[in-house]
Amino acid sequence: MEITALTEQEIQQFRTETKGTTVKTHFNNAGSALPPDVVVDTVINYLNEEAICGGYETEYKYKDQLDNTYALIARLTNANKDEIAIVENASAAWLMAFNGIGFKKGDVVITSEMEYVTNIIGLLDAKKTYGIEIKVIPNDDHGNFSLVALENAISPQTKLIAITHIPSTAGGVMPIVEIGKIACKHNILYLVDACQSAGQLPVDVKEIECDMLAVTGRKYLRAPRGTGFLYVRKEVQDKLKPVFMDGFNVQWISENDFKIRNDGRRFELYEKNRALTLGLGKAVEYALNIGVDRIWQRVQQLANTMRRQLESIDGITVHDICDQKCGIVTFSVDAKDSASVKSMLAEKQINVSVGLAKSTLFYMNKNHLTSVVRASVHYYNTEDEIKKLCDALSIYNKIKPL
Ligand SMILES: Cc1ncc(COP(=O)(O)O)c(C=O)c1O
Repeated sequence: MEITALTEQEIQQFRTETKGTTVKTHFNNAGSALPPDVVVDTVINYLNEEAICGGYETEYKYKDQLDNTYALIARLTNANKDEIAIVENASAAWLMAFNGIGFKKGDVVITSEMEYVTNIIGLLDAKKTYGIEIKVIPNDDHGNFSLVALENAISPQTKLIAITHIPSTAGGVMPIVEIGKIACKHNILYLVDACQSAGQLPVDVKEIECDMLAVTGRKYLRAPRGTGFLYVRKEVQDKLKPVFMDGFNVQWISENDFKIRNDGRRFELYEKNRALTLGLGKAVEYALNIGVDRIWQRVQQLANTMRRQLESIDGITVHDICDQKCGIVTFSVDAKDSASVKSMLAEKQINVSVGLAKSTLFYMNKNHLTSVVRASVHYYNTEDEIKKLCDALSIYNKIKPL
């Protein structure tokens, strides 16, 4: 189906609805995007009501809206509402799923060289604790994930395939649908880190055929910091032991026994920030109202423009890999370290971030990178902002160190 491009008028509207766009040129959406004003107002208003009416009383009043956040997330991901747990961030979501699996010595987990630090630490910890084996699939010569290498790596001992949809520092998208087909064919558990992808491009758990999916709120979903969610397929929920239990996700049925809740909220505890839950719901609703496929189209177009313009500047190297690129653009400036580039841009009210080797150590080491500058676009960015970034970099690059 043809996707209707976002119009200039719509983009102006989104900017008017985002106060941060009047102050900064924000190219740190992969760190934390600017939230729409309605998201911020929702959180502040809820906190004010809590302060005046009481926390439990306010929760009761907003019961349906709070519950609706689960339904909105389910719509966003094509899941069912009872397959969602709301947690604080993607790391908590990922670790909750991973550590619930229950490994034994000799189990094999397959991952890619693009995997994020939290996930690899989780794997290394399971290696030390249970004696699992970790197989890292190297990218092929073109920088793409190798489906052939994945097939070859699978054995009867393979317990889990854990893949990051959009790595934090490489500008590319991993073929998670194709990986899902392989995981499904071999009946292997499949855990996807969609931290950078949810809100940037359509993420459909049925299409991906994943068992578990971890997401953060603050990045491409434009939700408040400290929000995230975990999807666990209904049929898999009983196979995962909740890492934490309290009187909310577990029913104390007798003095000597308990029963774990029968839905996705078995991966949550009772106490959480209700204001942020509501803010997360608003952010998801905002994205759904625009249409994530339309967001994705705009993000790709802006990122490609940025890449082209950066590549045309002498002394700048764009590092992005994979045939399918995303909104994250990584580059370096000859003879300038990434932190200085970031500081120079910050003085001009342009936000970028520094991608450090430790975020994706396998990939960065293999490519001899210690850090990269990361400029990540969202749909509310403009071509004028890209020009501003490139102009600043062109001038900066002409200034030779003494
Ligand atoms: C690909 C990827 N996965 C996971 C995370 C961790 O997300 P969080 O900080 O929400 O735990 C990040 C954070 O940057 C990330 O880029």
